[in-house]
Amino acid sequence: MAHIAPFEVMEIQTLAREVEARGRDVVHLEIGEPDFRTPRPVVEAAKRALDEEPMFYTSALGLASLREAIARFYAERYRVEVPASRVIVTAGSSAALLLAFGVLLDPGDEVLLADPGYPCNRHFVRALGAVPRGVPVGPASRYQLTPDLARRHWGERTRMAMVASPSNPTGTMVTREELCGLASLAREMHGTFLSDEIYHGLTYGLEAPTAAEAGEDAFVINSFSKYFQMTGWRLGWMVAPADFVRSIEVLAQNLFISPSTVAQHAALACFAPATIAILEERRAELDARRRFLVPALESLGFGIPVVPQGAFYVYADSSRVAPDSFAFARELLVEAGVALTPGKDFGANEPQKHIRIAYTQPVARLEEAVARIGKLLGR
Ligand SMILES: Cc1ncc(COP(=O)(O)O)c(C=O)c1O
Repeated sequence: MAHIAPFEVMEIQTLAREVEARGRDVVHLEIGEPDFRTPRPVVEAAKRALDEEPMFYTSALGLASLREAIARFYAERYRVEVPASRVIVTAGSSAALLLAFGVLLDPGDEVLLADPGYPCNRHFVRALGAVPRGVPVGPASRYQLTPDLARRHWGERTRMAMVASPSNPTGTMVTREELCGLASLAREMHGTFLSDEIYHGLTYGLEAPTAAEAGEDAFVINSFSKYFQMTGWRLGWMVAPADFVRSIEVLAQNLFISPSTVAQHAALACFAPATIAILEERRAELDARRRFLVPALESLGFGIPVVPQGAFYVYADSSRVAPDSFAFARELLVEAGVALTPGKDFGANEPQKHIRIAYTQPVARLEEAVARIGKLLGR
């Protein structure tokens, strides 16, 4: 436990609730989940399933019909053939990540990942007795691990490299060439490449390429949480290399038994045209928020050297407006009623100079937040 830090954003949320309890309005820009409700057709499918389907455990690999639907989604959205036998349904992508690390890592093995990056990954790796190696990344590589950087940091004990694209906290992406380069580097090093694609679908102006294209030996992680707006249902999936499916099944049987049955029935409605139409409207709404927020923050003195093209985060350099992002986040919350996440959550690479803002609120609330930040900064 000494190596597993608290999720700072949760601490900010607790403080935000205290501030609200004192009667102050708080604009919540700290939370990493969309403010939209689960699409109606998905909720209706869940209700029907509760009435009509048995709610027993499913196979540890998930409902066959859902695995097939996900395989079809790859054919339709990405034009990539993925057999349903390689699709494994999990309790959120969190379970998919834990299962993948679980079958791949021995104690002492190292994993290369971008710093800043999603904090839970390093803690999953630590929990297995393996070692997360944060590679400092910045604007020059769009805050992403590139094949060059991975090659430079690949050591004796390195077993795998991973990316999340679009990234949390930066919203930036890797290119198709970089994905393929990382997959082939891992192959050359007799290691494994893992691609976290949970923000796929939430990209603005371009589509994110999937590592399922980069070879059948890559691990591809995805989720119903973000694009499909089902965070609390706890459902995700992974596309695994064929020769790992059996070990993952055995580990999943033991760690989870099976993913949520009602959530799996509900998720079958995710790929229906009526659901996709709702989700695409919401994607446009998120893009409008992004287009408001990025220039507004820049005009307050925040640095955004790479415009985020996906997810719902802006990772801004706050060093020109405040020397310590952690103290700034607390002051902003207590004095101005705006909650955001200090860089500290995302690694050791200049965290005090950065903040993450999640545009998970309507434009009117973002305008209010920008006005409050401006007032606190005397702009
Ligand atoms: C990059 C990334 N990966 C994985 C997850 C886990 O999400 P879930 O377990 O809801 O699929 C998150 C959640 O915020 C994330 O940002």
